[in-house]
Amino acid sequence: MSIYTLAIESSCDETSAAILQDGRKVLANVISSQVPIHRKFGGVVPEIASRHHIEQVIPVVDKALTDAGLTLDEIDHIGVTYGPGLVGALLVGVAAAKGLAFAANKPLIGVHHMEGHIFANFLSNPSLEPPFLSLVVSGGHTMLVVLKDYETFEVLGQTRDDAAGEAFDKIARVMGYSYPGGPAIDALAAKGNPQAIAFPRALAEKGNLEFSFSGLKSAVLNYINSTKMKGESIPEADLAASFQQAIIDVLVDKTMEAAYMSGQKVITVAGGVSANQGLQKALEKRAHKEGLIFYKPGKILSTDNAAMIGCRAYYMAQAGKFSDLSLNAKPALALGLG
Ligand code: KG4
Ligand code: ZN
Repeated sequence: MSIYTLAIESSCDETSAAILQDGRKVLANVISSQVPIHRKFGGVVPEIASRHHIEQVIPVVDKALTDAGLTLDEIDHIGVTYGPGLVGALLVGVAAAKGLAFAANKPLIGVHHMEGHIFANFLSNPSLEPPFLSLVVSGGHTMLVVLKDYETFEVLGQTRDDAAGEAFDKIARVMGYSYPGGPAIDALAAKGNPQAIAFPRALAEKGNLEFSFSGLKSAVLNYINSTKMKGESIPEADLAASFQQAIIDVLVDKTMEAAYMSGQKVITVAGGVSANQGLQKALEKRAHKEGLIFYKPGKILSTDNAAMIGCRAYYMAQAGKFSDLSLNAKPALALGLG
């Protein structure tokens, strides 16, 4: 008999509900994006995000059940993101999941958002099994994690300052592109020369698995300001390509170093920045050269969605990791505690 998971995600600016069959088959993955609403403010406004989650959370759950052709009664358990993220946004999903779990008498599972991102790889790649190394790159996190088995996460290194996605968003904003900036830079970079402008690659010493993007951000801002002061026009495509290449070089080099140091032969990428075409191509190429196997999630599964939360919830249920109705939002939740 199949196990059906209902999952809810509301940690940032997407309200999403998904239904999974036996943890890996996505029957529904409904995403209500608030991106157009936040765009005019240049970033996510927490209060506005919470309000839209409240309006959308039950409709997305209803649509997911309809898409999957199931009733709430037929669901086996309910997974929900409880951190990290915006506290008001998380609270909406957590309250909805608790209400549904209580009303329908279903077990509840609190899921770590970044663990969900890593598990998105299981949905796109049916044959994938742990152990593997994952480069986790999103708007709030940049880290290298070994998933030793379905329940054991080992963080090998993370960023000291900005996350990779944050750097993309900040530079795009200065260049006049709307939030979120990653896709705009990605598209522009494809038309430019990645060697046109020399930008720094921080913490490049061998064996160092930490990241830092604040120096790169300052270098790009200085370049933009000094070019403007000279009265010259900004070579937008070359700037985007050179900035993106500086991020990609660091991410790829450190991922290869981490694979070597941890002895992992399989690497995956996770989080919103994993949708970046330049990054995907570079990781694929280097992995091939080093004799490593590379997996990536599909586009919809790279950025925030509830299907990845459902996948993680399914494996947590297998391990007997359930939450009770005292589950609360944890905006700064550490990895591996889900
Ligand atoms: O994982 P995600 O959807 O939300 C968080 O958990 O943070 O990641 C969002 C981040 C944003 O910073 C966005 O600019 C970035 O992912 N992003 C990209 C691309 N698509 C989304 N960055 C670079 N290239 C892309 N194609
Ligand atoms: Zn995310």
